[in-house]
Amino acid sequence: MSEELDWANIGFGYRKTDYNVRYYYRDGKWGEMEISSSEYIPMHMAATCLHYGQECFEGLKAYRCKDGNIRIFRVEDNAARMQSTCRGILMPELPTEKFKAAVIKAVELNKRFIPPYETGATLYIRPLLIGTGAQVGVHPAQEYLFIVFVTPVGPYFKGGFATTPYVVIRHYDRAAPLGTGCFKVGGNYAASLRANKEAHDKGYSCEMYLDAREKKYIDEAGAANFFGIKNNTFITPKSDSILPSVTNRSLMQLAEDLGMKVERRQVPIEELSTFEEAGACGTAAVISPMERVDDIDEGKTYVFSKDGKPGPVCTKLYHKLLAIQHGEEPDVHGWVTVIEDK
Ligand code: PLP
Ligand code: COI
Repeated sequence: MSEELDWANIGFGYRKTDYNVRYYYRDGKWGEMEISSSEYIPMHMAATCLHYGQECFEGLKAYRCKDGNIRIFRVEDNAARMQSTCRGILMPELPTEKFKAAVIKAVELNKRFIPPYETGATLYIRPLLIGTGAQVGVHPAQEYLFIVFVTPVGPYFKGGFATTPYVVIRHYDRAAPLGTGCFKVGGNYAASLRANKEAHDKGYSCEMYLDAREKKYIDEAGAANFFGIKNNTFITPKSDSILPSVTNRSLMQLAEDLGMKVERRQVPIEELSTFEEAGACGTAAVISPMERVDDIDEGKTYVFSKDGKPGPVCTKLYHKLLAIQHGEEPDVHGWVTVIEDK
């Protein structure tokens, strides 16, 4: 039995579901899977996640499909990225099989919260890994907790697949050149809160960061990677301080499959004037086509959509990605985990 919610209008927020799944790391090893119905975590007040930001998270989605099954997109890639983050901030790596088992269990236990097919909503899966061991000196914890919770969500940016305006922010950085930008740690998001609020207050969907060293090249948006389209080419920034996006990697592959060229390289901000289309991409954002990017400091506006509609390439990539995620096109790259539920 599925929950009765106004699925088309649920927005991107937290809603309580029935269960979450946990593993504890103690005495140098990960324990067995535990299932909890509590939304809370009893924790030591000196836990390293609270003081020194020793925590990270992931984000992926499960889809209710036309064939009645449930599909999860690229779960192994999220496990690998969390492992990379763990190496980055000295946390124990959770093996891919344990990560995947927890994600599948959390989805299965909360099946009734998976939004029905074609409502525009999906089940967002949030794996979280935190240092729970007490430290007062700045050191890694001895104990950790990994949790997976799920929550049904609508589109992250207003209107879902619709063009919205973005703004370049120069007076804040989300990550330093040799910092933690390529890891999915909470500190990067704390660093983005002021810029994000400023962008929202001015009516933009999201802020866009430039490289922190030279302020010359596009890094990414606050919670999504950037891409531009011109001359049948998909162009996306190469930078050590952006999050390696699973969605972006998928779009690069799909662009190639569609016969486009793909370039991953530095993208100077002025190059925006040459793009036919541009977008932000991520699990939450999916593809968020850009209507325009304002560079207020330089007094420039880069317009990508004159009629307010998403461009043809963004539209094609969006439908192709969704079709694979929903099992309506062959999964030729082996991206999808199917949970039978007929
Ligand atoms: N960049 C940032 C800063 C993000 O928070 C996200 C979201 O996870 C992304 C990019 C997109 O990554 P993915 O496509 O793996 O969700
Ligand atoms: C995601 O796309 O999964 C994100 O993490 C974006 C945001 C909600 C932090």
